[in-house]
Amino acid sequence: MDLIPAEVRTVMGRLEGHDREDRVDGTPRSRRLRAVSPEVGQFLLTLALAIGGRTIVEVGTSGGYSTLWLALAARRAGGRVTTFEVDPAKVEIAAATFRDAGLAEVVDLRAQDAHAGLAEFDGAADLVFVDAEKEDYEGFLEPAVRALRPGGVLVADNLTSHAEDLEGFRRAALAHSDLAGLVVPIGRGELVAVKLAPTA
Ligand SMILES: C[S@@+](CC[C@H](N)C(=O)[O-])C[C@H]1O[C@@H](n2cnc3c(N)ncnc32)[C@H](O)[C@@H]1O
Repeated sequence: MDLIPAEVRTVMGRLEGHDREDRVDGTPRSRRLRAVSPEVGQFLLTLALAIGGRTIVEVGTSGGYSTLWLALAARRAGGRVTTFEVDPAKVEIAAATFRDAGLAEVVDLRAQDAHAGLAEFDGAADLVFVDAEKEDYEGFLEPAVRALRPGGVLVADNLTSHAEDLEGFRRAALAHSDLAGLVVPIGRGELVAVKLAPTA
């Protein structure tokens, strides 16, 4: 099977076009897709493949662009992506994304606040991707760390594009005793941190 099948590429292209137009045509922020860049999508896919991610959790689905990249890795590993989105209009777009890409069975799309949703993973997640409102990132840190298994990976978007807003989150994540990581300067800046196993 192709790593990125044609029907997935087609839907990715559609969302990339939608996102590009949103950024120049005056679409209000609340209605924009605000998707990660293709390079960051490829980065998420590579990371998820590297760890054989089967249980992948996403905070902030929007139109489902980043989810598609994560879902390709989850499908190869025989797993799923659970993705949380609070905006009903975005949930509708995302449902069409996953259906048209042929990935609906690999994605559990939850029209739900991720604060509550993360709690159910409790050490079971291989990868948690945080891409929601910047003022909420600090509040997602502990729930995301708790959701990860040791060796699991936390990724968060916008660390360089919103460096000032996310300074508190960056400091807390990079100083966290259960995490080891860094900010990778690709796309809008991706914080990547591995959850450490307890020492013997
Ligand atoms: C930057 S966009 C996500 C873009 C998406 N990850 C992508 O790359 O295609 C952020 C999304 O998070 C959603 N969101 C904000 N707070 C949330 C929360 N507490 N739980 C779930 N979704 C949330 C917003 O409605 C918005 O659609």
